[in-house]
Amino acid sequence: MGHFLGEEMENFKIKRLDKAFDIEIDSIASDKSISHRCAMFSIFSNQTSYIKNFLTAEDTLNSLSIVEQLGAKVKRNGSSVEITPIDNLSEPADILDCGNAGTGMRLFCGLLASVDGAFTLTGDKYLKERPMKRVADPLRSIGAKIDGRENGNKAPLFIRGVKNLKPFTYHSPVDSAQVKSAMILAALRGTGVSKYKENELTRDHTERMLKGMGADIETDKEGFINIHPLKGHLKPLNITVPTDPSSAFFFAIAAAITPNSRVLIKNVTLNPTRIGAYEVLKRMGVEVNFIEKENIYEPIGDIEVKHKELNAVVVEEHISWLIDELPALSIAMSLASGKSLVKNAKELRVKESDRIKAVVSNLKKCGVKYTEFEDGYEIVGGTLNKAIINSHGDHRIAMSFSIAGLFCDMDIEDTDCILTSFPNFKEILDSLRN
Ligand code: S3P
Repeated sequence: MGHFLGEEMENFKIKRLDKAFDIEIDSIASDKSISHRCAMFSIFSNQTSYIKNFLTAEDTLNSLSIVEQLGAKVKRNGSSVEITPIDNLSEPADILDCGNAGTGMRLFCGLLASVDGAFTLTGDKYLKERPMKRVADPLRSIGAKIDGRENGNKAPLFIRGVKNLKPFTYHSPVDSAQVKSAMILAALRGTGVSKYKENELTRDHTERMLKGMGADIETDKEGFINIHPLKGHLKPLNITVPTDPSSAFFFAIAAAITPNSRVLIKNVTLNPTRIGAYEVLKRMGVEVNFIEKENIYEPIGDIEVKHKELNAVVVEEHISWLIDELPALSIAMSLASGKSLVKNAKELRVKESDRIKAVVSNLKKCGVKYTEFEDGYEIVGGTLNKAIINSHGDHRIAMSFSIAGLFCDMDIEDTDCILTSFPNFKEILDSLRN
């Protein structure tokens, strides 16, 4: 999010919630990961894709604009989007602005690597500091032409699309759905079958959605994802984007820390790679129920969360299944009895902010005792006091500490970043008081 000189940043003053709540919420933001992919994958078809409940937040609207700049026809009516692709994507006259979105930038690298033309991807001041070598290196090794600041590690990135990317066998050193997706998108336009392996399964929306559209993508016995190049066009998408479990999790934490409270969050993706944090809440003693209702590309259903006394927990496995929820979990950890531990989470350091630093420096202001590690932190539960929170321009930090404000008053500085993923967050937060 850019600010102009003299422009006021929005701040929140959150008051303690003195009563219990029991609510059903059906207006939480749609899934960010799936919305980005809807915008991008629609161009692999030659027919119109119909997307309902597209996330109308800054990050995903940027991806939609980029697809439009590449020549697709986009009609949007609120959160209903129709995307009609064109056969040959056109070279845009201008730079492509991903805003704050790492997903947007990294996936577009893979997508554009084989498209005829020159493309410049840029973003806001936070995105321009995030590592892009993780996609630039493997893409270059198959013949892609990508450059940028710091030898292609930082945006603005410049891509000169090339035909005939080489097929590859790649075991990624980093477990990242963004790297995996970028490589899958490149492989779809490669000249032979490509194989991609990760140490641990990361979110698999790309594989599920592309398979649903007819792509030939299978995981073999050795754990390699085999990606066959496209033979023609894929089927269009016809999808209702589910609720984002990462956005919903803020209200799961609200219920978990507010005595006698309960929340029912409607129509969330229950993809196992996305609900790890809810499983952690369960291990902390909270009552969490998953009510699966349908399965279209992904399992979808409601999640019910009921307050119980919180116990400390160790989080060190399947980190990618809960990486985005760790800031919100740190609030529950601060209010749990005992010492909680987060390990193997060094990826937190390269998110929208250095989230280890952003979490512990703000918890410190709240009087929480902690130990910081390179790959995580230990939190001593039992204390959480009012403070003035620095969001570090990071939406998940701003929202996590806003939820903490339900327990003790909290002032959050620079909350505009929330618009990147969850524009009606404050409205829903305020509705807990009704
Ligand atoms: C995302 C993947 C994750 C996640 C991010 C969204 C995606 O990042 O943290 O918010 O949509 O693919 P990494 O793949 O870098 O771990």
